[in-house]
Amino acid sequence: MKIAMLGSGFIARFYAESLHSQRRKDHLVMVYSRNEENAKRFADDYNLPHYSTSMEEAIAHPEVEVVLISLPNHLHETAVRECTKYKKHVICTKPLGRTAKEAKRMLDLIEEAGIFGGYLEDLCYTPKFLKSMESIQRGDIGKVLWTKSRETHPGPHSDWFWDKEKSGGGAIIDLGCHCVEISRNFIGKNIKPMEVMCWADTQVHPIDAEDHAIGLVKYANGAIGQFEVSWTFRGGMDLRDEVMGTEGTIWINSFLRTGFEMFTTGKGGDGYVAEKAESNTGWLFPVGDEAYELGYPHMFTDMFNAIEEKRQPLETFYDGYVVNAILDAAFKSADTKQWEPVILEDWRGDEPEEHQKKWNSYDDDHYLIKEEILPNGDTKVILKHKQTGVVTQKVTHGKK
Ligand SMILES: NC(=O)c1ccc[n+]([C@@H]2O[C@H](COP(=O)([O-])OP(=O)(O)OC[C@H]3O[C@@H](n4cnc5c(N)ncnc54)[C@H](O)[C@@H]3O)[C@@H](O)[C@H]2O)c1
Repeated sequence: MKIAMLGSGFIARFYAESLHSQRRKDHLVMVYSRNEENAKRFADDYNLPHYSTSMEEAIAHPEVEVVLISLPNHLHETAVRECTKYKKHVICTKPLGRTAKEAKRMLDLIEEAGIFGGYLEDLCYTPKFLKSMESIQRGDIGKVLWTKSRETHPGPHSDWFWDKEKSGGGAIIDLGCHCVEISRNFIGKNIKPMEVMCWADTQVHPIDAEDHAIGLVKYANGAIGQFEVSWTFRGGMDLRDEVMGTEGTIWINSFLRTGFEMFTTGKGGDGYVAEKAESNTGWLFPVGDEAYELGYPHMFTDMFNAIEEKRQPLETFYDGYVVNAILDAAFKSADTKQWEPVILEDWRGDEPEEHQKKWNSYDDDHYLIKEEILPNGDTKVILKHKQTGVVTQKVTHGKK
């Protein structure tokens, strides 16, 4: 694929490093930046034949097959609109929109134009995440009951993030979009998100948006997706997920602890350690290959394969829209302090059914509440009578 990069900032460089790393065959051929010096510098750094200070010119360029949007949130819709004009496939960084309304317009635009729309939710492509999904889909941990996804760091690196109008919000929109989509994958994208309860506050930074929030997303099958996001966390970037199922548990640590720990007095140098690391002396937690740990290579492979195979990628514009709808409800709940419904005018998954709870039977008369081997080797079972509801216990000496 021949790709045009829109934007030359932080994520544009991360994506470029990933696209041009190793012996990958999909390459950037064009970069758009409104500042000519930045455009030229980016083109030189990644050996690109073209650069432009006009978004339209970059998209329209005849060599360009796919457009990669790495612009601030308020420019995503404009960029998608330009791509539809020239029928160029588009892949867009997160969050898709600042609101579900904006995301829906973007979804409609690509569907009406018949072009490909990929949602660059990298954290749903990390090797650890993809392997967890395989286990969940095989049924290794049973039915997923609760997920927790956490992304916290000391705050983003550019002015526009802190401007609510341009970003669409604070930590909820910036980091919550990752957490919500991670939980949706674990719980099942066909399961409808129903309502959200969210606490949010501006605890540290002098901004209009929230810099810390915790939310619960309730799904139609009874599962709960919890998100914890913060721009006030000290100590680097904390990316962790937990999944609790009826038959098992998964814990993933994607960044601060990847199995690489190091100590330095700092006398030898003062280099970069990892994204959002706050220190480069003392005990450090570097990340071997950040792009890989964050899922970029697998994400781009899926996107470009999907374009070639004329199929949907794992993460689509539709997913981006559902995420925005959940976040809209979170913002509302933070305001009203009530559970707020997730408003999805376009729902493509299963219709919610009455949640059927099934209890495990011990015998014809009893349900099994719990079985445990005690320290003395006895086995104890706790039972509930199916008719009377009376709870009893039975101890077997030695193993059953
Ligand atoms: N993990 C991830 O997926 C991830 C990580 C970081 C950022 N992002 C997303 O990437 C996008 C860009 O974020 P970033 O961190 O690269 O920001 P950044 O500020 O580092 O870069 C933004 C780029 O857009 C340009 N720009 C800013 N205002 C503009 C305007 N009015 N017109 C044209 N160009 C303008 C800037 O000059 C810069 O090149 C955001 O949507 C953000 O949410 C995603």
